Amino acid sequence: MKQVRSVAQLREAVAGLQGRVALVPTMGNLHEGHLTLVRRAHEIADHVVVSIFVNPLQFDREQDLQAYPRTEEQDLALLRSEAVELAFTPSTEVIYPRSMETHTRVEVPGLSDIFCGESRPGHFVGVATIVCKLFNMVQPQAAVFGKKDFQQLLIIRRMVEDLAMPIEIVGVDTVREADGLAMSSRNNYLNPQQRRMAPALYHALQQTAEALHQGRRQYAELEEQAGKLIAAAGMRPDYFSIRRAADLGEPGESETALVVLGAAFLGMARLIDNLEVKL
Ligand code: PAF
Repeated sequence: MKQVRSVAQLREAVAGLQGRVALVPTMGNLHEGHLTLVRRAHEIADHVVVSIFVNPLQFDREQDLQAYPRTEEQDLALLRSEAVELAFTPSTEVIYPRSMETHTRVEVPGLSDIFCGESRPGHFVGVATIVCKLFNMVQPQAAVFGKKDFQQLLIIRRMVEDLAMPIEIVGVDTVREADGLAMSSRNNYLNPQQRRMAPALYHALQQTAEALHQGRRQYAELEEQAGKLIAAAGMRPDYFSIRRAADLGEPGESETALVVLGAAFLGMARLIDNLEVKL
């Protein structure tokens, strides 16, 4: 596997790849969830490029940015074992050579201001900007993202559509621990007791999905019940909502493609998860 840190080296390495290239953008601290994205990328392309960059522009709190786990050597070893051909590991200076404050930004209005965007102001502008920039740097034919960040995936799909980027966006199902907790680098922040409490978010999603499958359509009531379940398990709910899967709009009673989204605080961690419900 080749590792490159500059844009010139990246362009040279990508130019040497014949056929379809898939990009898996990451912030490192790779786990089985990321490796599943890499495996999917291998299925849809001839070459897989993985980027590792902890993007300061998408962090709304400096403390969160500083605490984000950085495990580059371990990550590169995992990527080698998954036959990744190219790892792009730029520094902040490579991505934001002037100043981050005056850097051009990409905004997907509407979708970016709700749920995680409301709790973390500016977060999705940071995500859309870095993903757009990585797309321009790597120029892949496809890119793979996890469905755990469901809102992020929709925002990237919308950006690609709105800006007519010739890139196929592939979403991959969430990978879970044995007790249902969605895999995430943020799970590292949980102490053993909190780790035992954490699957409550998934259980609330499951309970809500089950109720929807049973024909219940009192969305507000179901959301309230789920919030109580999460709070009773010792977590502080951030949001819990049943929405249209296509665009996160308010669903009507006959909607058949829904997504249940939840976020909750537990100790130092803010956990997010979702379940798609097809009726
Ligand atoms: O999902 C992530 O890890 C990040 O938001 C992404 C897409 C790599 C952009 O920094």
